[in-house]
Amino acid sequence: MIIRTRRGAVGVDEAGSGEPLLLLHGFPHDRTLWAPQLAAPAPGVRYLAPDLPGFGESERHLEATLDDWADWVAALMDALAVPRAMVGGLSMGGYLAFALWRRHPRRVRALVLADTKAGADTEEGRAKRREMQELVRREGVGVVADRMMPGMVGKTTRDTRPEVIRVLDAMMRRASVDGLVDALDALMTRSDSTPTLETITVPTLVLCGEEDALTPVAESRALHAAIAGSSLGILPGAGHVSNLEEPTGFNGLLSAFLTATIRRTPP
Ligand code: MLT
Repeated sequence: MIIRTRRGAVGVDEAGSGEPLLLLHGFPHDRTLWAPQLAAPAPGVRYLAPDLPGFGESERHLEATLDDWADWVAALMDALAVPRAMVGGLSMGGYLAFALWRRHPRRVRALVLADTKAGADTEEGRAKRREMQELVRREGVGVVADRMMPGMVGKTTRDTRPEVIRVLDAMMRRASVDGLVDALDALMTRSDSTPTLETITVPTLVLCGEEDALTPVAESRALHAAIAGSSLGILPGAGHVSNLEEPTGFNGLLSAFLTATIRRTPP
């Protein structure tokens, strides 16, 4: 469906009913990243998966910073009449979840941080983002898919799950040049979320594919160590897009966490 918000049109998929869970995709994905989760929603939970600005069916957002995207998420929640939600993010979606927590903490009931990390880009990382922007402008979006695919999935997926590679490759090739360039701006200007971790007071689940090469397990262990009371789940046989590569294991840990959160915390 398309939702009209005060910050523009947003493509959103929805499944299940009950307490809201907002799922924020990574780079360069779109809302279909979460299809395996929306196919099996936890009981009593309403899953909402938006396309982030400039991806899928969401309008491009002119201020390409994650802080401004966090305000954009709050505007989406207003349009959906969702005052507070459990919020999950994979990789870039996790960076955005940190920004949402900093800017709108009362709107966050719980956090699910999948295959993500707290640190900002290094100077070398920023130079690579700028190089990617030039490449995309010159050669089109396929170059990002070609460059990123090897690191996106783990060895087990590369060796045994051709259908996951096909789905992910098609998803990455659907991105637009402007959407990618904006997201790269947002990624390279994001703040360091390390000081944010000790401020997190909501239930938090950290998940990571054991074969994640882009945000290795050590990053998730560091999040778990710094966020008081958090839980950590490592998914064997999965890489960076652990929700797509190992949906059964991912959904099991996610559902158990959501059910426990609903039981223990007020809406
Ligand atoms: C992602 O999956 O969102 C990206 O790998 C994040 C990044 O490039 O930092």
